Amino acid sequence: MRHLLSIADLDRDEIGRIMELADSFAEVGRRDIKKVPTLRGRTVVSLFYESSTRTSSSFELAVKRLSADLVSVKAAGSSVDKGESLRDTIATLSAYEPEAIIIRSPHAGAAQLVAQWTDAAVVNAGDGKHEHPSQALLDVYTLRERLGELDGKKIWIVGDVLHSRVARSNILCLQALGAKVRVCAPPALMPTGIAALGVEPLHDFDAALDGADVVMMLRLQNERMDGQFIPSAREYRHLYGLTPERLARAAPEAIVMHPGPMNRGVEIDSSVADLPDRSIITTQVEMGVAMRMACLDVLTRRARRVEGWG
Ligand code: CP
Repeated sequence: MRHLLSIADLDRDEIGRIMELADSFAEVGRRDIKKVPTLRGRTVVSLFYESSTRTSSSFELAVKRLSADLVSVKAAGSSVDKGESLRDTIATLSAYEPEAIIIRSPHAGAAQLVAQWTDAAVVNAGDGKHEHPSQALLDVYTLRERLGELDGKKIWIVGDVLHSRVARSNILCLQALGAKVRVCAPPALMPTGIAALGVEPLHDFDAALDGADVVMMLRLQNERMDGQFIPSAREYRHLYGLTPERLARAAPEAIVMHPGPMNRGVEIDSSVADLPDRSIITTQVEMGVAMRMACLDVLTRRARRVEGWG
């Protein structure tokens, strides 16, 4: 595996092997000293052109637990503020000879471009509304820990599907593992042609919830909206918010997920987000470190001349 740009580049076997590797790094995370020498003496660059809490912090922890040196650059406060281009920024950071570059960008396709400009392995940490592959990998890993194999499991993804890179990556990843995926959104927030991905698109949330094993809620991504997509947050909550009443009525056994950040009281109520047994939102964050350690291990094997991965 040369880069992690899109889940479409991975097959079921590869996803399974990354999850196996994540198991071993999850064990490291349970030790007193949560560090292994896998990337000792190596360098990883993290370049974030967009805000992040979970992805940036868990990649940082993953890099440090693998014993690599981390160069962390945020667009704000860097020479990007002075007009430096992405290409020049990558050329500059590549001069440190990093084994991997982790990039988040508001532009779809940015990670793909970076992969053409550097010898480092490139990790797409979110590119516009295109993909967020490490999020999908940690989501399926979290689900497999909870439910076992995902073949035939009914995973319903609900909310602003139109602007969601998490939705696209999860649809591809869940389907690769044999899950049945349904998406639910208001008409204005449903991508045209989404059915071509093999998912069932629905607009009525109460009907859509029926039979769900898992409900994955999505945030309204206002930063990617160029107009009025919903009448109001209040109206949106009324029709598409995951309230305790709606969950109890329509999907009484379903597990609740959310990639974060959450807008509590809009797409999900606090009393649902914080349900002790059924909400696995905090577990998703926890699993992110082991999964991202696994991704960085796999992606740097070629540079480290480690056998055992294509
Ligand atoms: N899920 C996710 O990508 O969260 P952050 O934006 O906080 O990284």
